[in-house]
Amino acid sequence: MGILGDLRSKLRARRDQKNEECEWVARGYEAPSPSWIKRSVLLRLGQEEATWIETGTFQGDTTALLAATSRAVYTIEPERTLFELAEARFRGDERVHVIHGLSETAFPSLLPTLSGKVNFWLDGHYSGGITHQGPTDCPVRDELASIERNLAHFDSVVVLIDDIRCFDPSNPLYADYPSIDYLVDWARRNGLRWHVEHDIFVAESRTAE
Ligand SMILES: C[S@@+](CC[C@H](N)C(=O)[O-])C[C@H]1O[C@@H](n2cnc3c(N)ncnc32)[C@H](O)[C@@H]1O
Repeated sequence: MGILGDLRSKLRARRDQKNEECEWVARGYEAPSPSWIKRSVLLRLGQEEATWIETGTFQGDTTALLAATSRAVYTIEPERTLFELAEARFRGDERVHVIHGLSETAFPSLLPTLSGKVNFWLDGHYSGGITHQGPTDCPVRDELASIERNLAHFDSVVVLIDDIRCFDPSNPLYADYPSIDYLVDWARRNGLRWHVEHDIFVAESRTAE
């Protein structure tokens, strides 16, 4: 991309950010928060010097941010076009590993290869438009089961689950999502502290600093 193209995409990103913010204010700050706020939550709560796992790469904007601040990022995307664009975007960046497939299929072979501090950004789900619609709209149950089986390999984890407002299976739109109680039970069973902020469920094994 030339200087002009670069400038255009920066201006477009700034305009999108402004629109997202205006809509949020007009909704009386109702969830979801603008993406730059969610990303600052990831940067604040993610452990330093950790490996990040992101489910649902989409356009790779969060991937790029996480890569700039961590040891390595594994990002998983089943939609072929989005996967190919991300693969091209991060080609040559040794910290970023773009995986083509469903997170629930990739986790059982990926997680046993990891160790040390691990941060999870669980954001892979059907979201309309070009995004992938797999056997389930929300694979979080399977993802959490895989994390639970591998917890002993990790020194510590932070698990961030996006779009907590959707975790209401009594709403027909979100029938594939587990309940918030399910997430809380999972965190407690695994000895993790949990809280919710900006529409993100956070479970962490870190002790308070
Ligand atoms: C909300 S977007 C992700 C946004 C991105 N993580 C970010 O922070 O900018 C959801 C993405 O999840 C992908 N997806 C859908 N089902 C999935 C699955 N089972 N495993 C992994 N990703 C999935 C969609 O194709 C879509 O790109």
